[in-house]
Amino acid sequence: MKRRLFIAGNWKLNKTAAETTETVADLKAKLADFNGSLDVALFPPFLSIAAGQAAAAGSPIGIGAQNVHFAESGAYTGELSAAMLKEAGIELVIIGHSERRQYFGETNETVNLRTKAALAAGIKPFVCIGETLEEREGGNMESVLKAQIVEGFADITAEQMTNLVVAYEPVWAIGTGVTASPEQAQDTHAYIRSEFAALYGQEVADKVIIQYGGSVKPANVAELMSCEDIDGALVGGASLKADDFSALILNA
Ligand code: G3P
Repeated sequence: MKRRLFIAGNWKLNKTAAETTETVADLKAKLADFNGSLDVALFPPFLSIAAGQAAAAGSPIGIGAQNVHFAESGAYTGELSAAMLKEAGIELVIIGHSERRQYFGETNETVNLRTKAALAAGIKPFVCIGETLEEREGGNMESVLKAQIVEGFADITAEQMTNLVVAYEPVWAIGTGVTASPEQAQDTHAYIRSEFAALYGQEVADKVIIQYGGSVKPANVAELMSCEDIDGALVGGASLKADDFSALILNA
């Protein structure tokens, strides 16, 4: 069974509001004949989101945020709540990207809290998991992914699992130009799905959207997307230019 693909672009710390307007408008024009056969979204920096929303209006391009805090309010300098995102018309959010885990101290526990806060506000989380090269080469890939799943998705209901997206991003493939081979990615996605099946049953696991992320490009997207358990892509570098990202979407 092939699930509906979700192709999303994570812009990380790139693009001002003016640049966002320009790129989204360009992408919208390039997708004018797109048949809507898959879901598309972009995740600009917070201050560029409103520009993205305005430029994407009337197109199939969803605009989301790159982070959300778990508290409703309080002494959390620099953070934004799920209710604030929702009020700003944001319905998609990336949670637990490896860069946030690496540089900003995110843990499976904070990922879990943020995911629950987003779901409670009616925002679809894109929850990132993935192992480092050291963990893979040390034979710990499965135990790392399992802990990210068991702890990161604790208390998430079966129904909520079908309203979120899981993004598998092997850290060694992010921004390195090294993509997991389709076989490596498929094997790992199948493993991830089997862990969700153990927690929620096969029927629910079969519905979970699992994106692959890590050096996805127009040239390799089709082969990755043809794999049974790969249901989309979370794209960094190749989502920054409308030319590349539209080609990637149309090739998927
Ligand atoms: O979240 C997307 C990402 O980390 C992958 O980045 O540049 O390897 O496509 P990139």
